[in-house]
Formats: sequence, C-alpha cells, structure tokens
Amino acid sequence: MAKINIKIEGIPYQVEEGLTVLEAAKLCGYEIPSLCAFNHGECSRGSCRVCLVEVKGARGLVASCVYPVNEGMEITISSPKASEARRASVELLLSNHNQNCQQCDKNGKCELLHVAYLTGAREGRYQGAKTPTTLDQLTPSIIRDTSKCILCGRCVERCKNAHGMGILGFENRGFRTIVAPAENRSFANSPCILCGQCVSVCPTGALMEKSEIDKVDAAFKAGKHVVVQTAPAVRAALGEEFGMPVGTPVTGKMVAALRRLGFKKVYDTNFAADVTIMEEGTELLERINNGGVLPMITSCSPGWINYAEYNYGDLLPHLSTCKSPQQMQGALLKDYYAAKKDIAPEDMFVVSVMPCTAKKYEKERPELRVNEIPDVDAVLTTRELARMIKRAGIVFHKLPDEEFDQDLMGEYTGAAVIFGVTGGVMEAALRTVYYVLTGTEHEAINFEAVRGLEGIREASLDINGMTVNVAIAHGMKNAKVLLDEIREGKSKYHFIEIMGCPGGCIAGGGQPLVRSCFMPYEDNDIQDTFRAKRAAALYSEDERQVLRQSHNNPQVKKLYDEYLIKPNSHKAHELLHTTYKAKEGYND
Ligand code: SF4
Ligand code: SF4
Ligand code: SF4
Ligand code: FES
Repeated sequence: MAKINIKIEGIPYQVEEGLTVLEAAKLCGYEIPSLCAFNHGECSRGSCRVCLVEVKGARGLVASCVYPVNEGMEITISSPKASEARRASVELLLSNHNQNCQQCDKNGKCELLHVAYLTGAREGRYQGAKTPTTLDQLTPSIIRDTSKCILCGRCVERCKNAHGMGILGFENRGFRTIVAPAENRSFANSPCILCGQCVSVCPTGALMEKSEIDKVDAAFKAGKHVVVQTAPAVRAALGEEFGMPVGTPVTGKMVAALRRLGFKKVYDTNFAADVTIMEEGTELLERINNGGVLPMITSCSPGWINYAEYNYGDLLPHLSTCKSPQQMQGALLKDYYAAKKDIAPEDMFVVSVMPCTAKKYEKERPELRVNEIPDVDAVLTTRELARMIKRAGIVFHKLPDEEFDQDLMGEYTGAAVIFGVTGGVMEAALRTVYYVLTGTEHEAINFEAVRGLEGIREASLDINGMTVNVAIAHGMKNAKVLLDEIREGKSKYHFIEIMGCPGGCIAGGGQPLVRSCFMPYEDNDIQDTFRAKRAAALYSEDERQVLRQSHNNPQVKKLYDEYLIKPNSHKAHELLHTTYKAKEGYND
C-alpha cells in the first residue's frame, strides 16, 4: 500500500493510504476516544460521534472512525473545540443510559465508562426523558438490557459476519430506536443460536451472559458435593482477565484457583472429550461400514446444534448422536463417579466452566437428562469464573500450578485439549480412526491438513486403502455452504466438523473480551491475531502431553472395561447419546 504524508498536532507522519483517521492516529501513537467503531471497519456506522477531530479544510468536525486519511491532511485531536465536542457526545449517550454501574457486570470492562474517563464527561448536563426499556432475560444464556445500549450496531454486524444471520436489528424510529430481534421479540422466541458472539463485541452491559454465580454459591452453602469441569478453551484465555498476554496457557493456576474456591473435585472436560472421540469415532466407522447416513457431522457445539434445529431440520440424521463433552462429563459424574464414590446423584452439583453462552442453554435441554436428572447444574463462562476468583480475593498470578484431580476421571490426552479450536475435534477423531483402521498410531500424530483458521477447510486422507474425505467449518455462514451441498446431494465428505463460533471455542461468546484499551500494551492490535494465539496455547499443551490419542487414555479404557463395556454399547447410549428435533425460528 502506498504511503502518504499527514500531520497530527502539527507533527509530520507517513501512514498507509486507505486507513481511517482513527486507525492512522493509533499507528502514530494517539488514542482518539471511540465507541461505535470496531475491528477495522467490522462496525463503522459513525453514529456515536465520540471520535470527533478537526481536519484542516473540512467543514466542521469529522468522525475519525469513518474519515479516510489523504495526502497532506492536517489533523488536530486536542483542540478545545474537538475535545469539548467529544465530551458532549459522551454526555449525550450517558443522558439516555441507566448508569447503574454498581450493579452492572460490565463495570471494569465498560467502554462507555472508558470514553467518559478519556473525554472528561462527568456532569449530567443533558437531562430529560429516556427511551423506554426492554429487559429480555427469557433465555438461560443472554440478557439484553436496552437501557444500557448505545445503538452502536456492533452486535448487529457481528451476528451477520459470523453467521450470515440478522437476528438483531434496529427496531422503531428516532428516540424510540432499540436493538432487538425482529419486533422486539425475546431471543427465546427467535432463531438466535445463543452463541454470544454479539455479547463478545458489545461495548456496554447491554448484552451480557446470564450469570449463574449465585446458583453456584447457593450449592456451596447447601452443602452439596460440588464438582467442577473446565473446557479446554478456558485455560487458553482465562489469564487475559488477569492482565496476562493473549495466548498464555494457565491450566495449573486455573486448577489452583478452582480448588481455593471450594470445589470438591476439579476435573477437566477433556476426559469426556476423549470419551467423545471413542463414541463418535465408532459411530463414524459404523456408518461408513454399514451404509449409514453420511456425511456424519460433529455435535459438540450447542450453538451449531441450535442452528441445525432451526434451519436444517431435514439434515438432523447427519448429526452424530453423541452428547457434547460437557454433557458426557456431567452424565458420567452423576452416574459412574457417583456410584464409585457412593454419593446420591441428587446430592451432587456439577458446575461447568465453558467458553460459551450456548452451553448454559444446552444444560437445560430436556433431552439431556438421565432419569430426569440434569447432567450439569450450572454453567459459568470464562468471564464469570474470573469474576468469582477476583471476588474471592485470590491473586491469580501468585497461585502455584496445580494438577487436576487424578482419580477416576482425571486423565486426558492431547487429542482432547485441541477440541477447543476449530479442526481440533476432527484431528482428535482422525488420530483414533487411523489407529482403529490400521492397528498402528499415525506416525506424525498431527494432522496438519485440518488445522488453520480458514472458514472452510477440507482434506482427503488415505487410511489403509480407505479414502476418508473430511471438511471443517466454523461460524454458521461457512457451515451453511457445506450444509447446502449436502441438501443438494453434492457433498463428497464422510465426516464434517462444525463449530458455532468463528475460530471454535477459543473465541466463544463466554471468553474474555478482546479490547485493546483493557489489555497489556503488547496486545494492542490483537483483534486480528487473538484466535491464532489462543489456538497456539492449546496446540502447545497437546504437544506437551505424553498421551496424545484418546484411545490411549488409561482411565477411558477402564471406564469401558468396567462400566460401559464398549463404545456405542447400550449403557453408553443411555448416558452419552441424545436426539435432536427441528424447531420453529419465530415461535410466538
Ligand atoms: S454499561 Fe457501563 S456505564 Fe452502563 S451501567 Fe454498565 S458499567 Fe455503567
Ligand atoms: S447470540 Fe449469536 S445468533 Fe444470537 S443474536 Fe447474538 S450473535 Fe446472533
Ligand atoms: S446491544 Fe451492545 S453492541 Fe448492540 S447496539 Fe447496543 S451497545 Fe451496541
Ligand atoms: S467511534 Fe466514530 S462515530 Fe463512533
């Protein structure tokens, strides 16, 4: 890209052509306050007017987030006129805001408060009527509170970009405008897949996960046998909540923190991920050998399952009948573990720490109960776990590295760890399928062909004379391409992995928010690279494991030898498999 000459505050700089004033200023070392703009134009409505600056020769102040730099441009950020206008913009936003910061879980990570600080917006100069509020808390996953919404539109764009869906849009006009599903329905009455991608970009507390911290506290108080499981992606991001650089793996400190919070047992969902591979791999081979429905599609991601049920009811027989690892771990805890430890299942309380808001919904599904007992009782997002750790006064970086509990369901392999990244479930399955078909381990262990962050990836593998065609998609926009091929009878694949969120669980809707203004200096331009960095944290943990194939997990072998008999057995089906049903999108 060609370079052009500009001046900021009278100082000359050379910057790339095509940047906005906001981006160019940032590269030159100036932070212009901004709010509605997000991620290199992913959202650039220019609506909040928080980023106003003076540009010589322009008529009036310009919104730096949408105004492109050009040769010879002279920009002034700090003039009294620009500073006062930015402050007035923030004060206007605050005048239509509930400002209930004390009770808002976004406090501490709120971009509205950040720009109020940067612009010096302190006084409530603009008083008057406020837009009527909608508080939607009908789903178990997400709360939408329009009294905190600044109408930036980031959520609207993210839903479209990630999924090609337009669940959220601007409703009403003028002063009564709100952001909502069509006709201001609840998320519960829309085809929203509850993935939380919109939550992860919202600058305020207008979209938040529905917290279950109180439920967990109540279980402790009631003297329940409270056991926790953590999903692989959590360890790759939790450190960010405590100021660590993106991609710092914090497995040992996370375990130590959970123990200090009082959990009786700290287990890893990875054990169940290994079980998932045994069940899913066996199901795939049975379908291939016995003329079953192909391609088979993975079923670990509850956002994806929601999408399939709303949009591709005709393709549900393609989904693996395996429950997700979270549910498998819960079912095994309340059955296998409870029996071995002589604890009544109803005295147990299973908590999951997940990178995902859809997991909160998943655990409520009636199909995922065994004898009317839910597999999982509460789901905390990575962000909620961080809140619990902070509230308990635990200094995270001073914690020692501790190991997961090792008894019964404590061991896991590298194959399970990579479940947290797009392509990981496929790679884990291939390691085991290769072994089952050849009787030997794949020499390289890694299946590089299925790795990466491309939206759709495919590979063909020759295993003992059998060609296995596989594909991977993440984000529903990409999944749709593969699903439409199946619908049209054009799919050449045997096995497809689909993950709801772009990047997979490492970038799930419950993960720490990625905002340069709240991150260490070295992560200042992280929007483009945070997925790859978190993925690298999981691949490095895989490399460090002695055992890297699910079928080599000794406790999984024992589970089958002593309890389930074999993968896909009657008992395994009772505990570890489920069914799906087509659903109406707009159901009110
Ligand atoms: S969104 Fe921000 S400003 Fe609004 S109540 Fe929450 S913390 Fe306060
Ligand atoms: S939760 Fe996901 S599907 Fe629902 S509105 Fe948000 S981004 Fe869209
Ligand atoms: S809900 Fe959040 S992301 Fe969506 S428009 Fe409102 S403030 Fe912006
Ligand atoms: S950040 Fe530029 S108008 Fe909102």
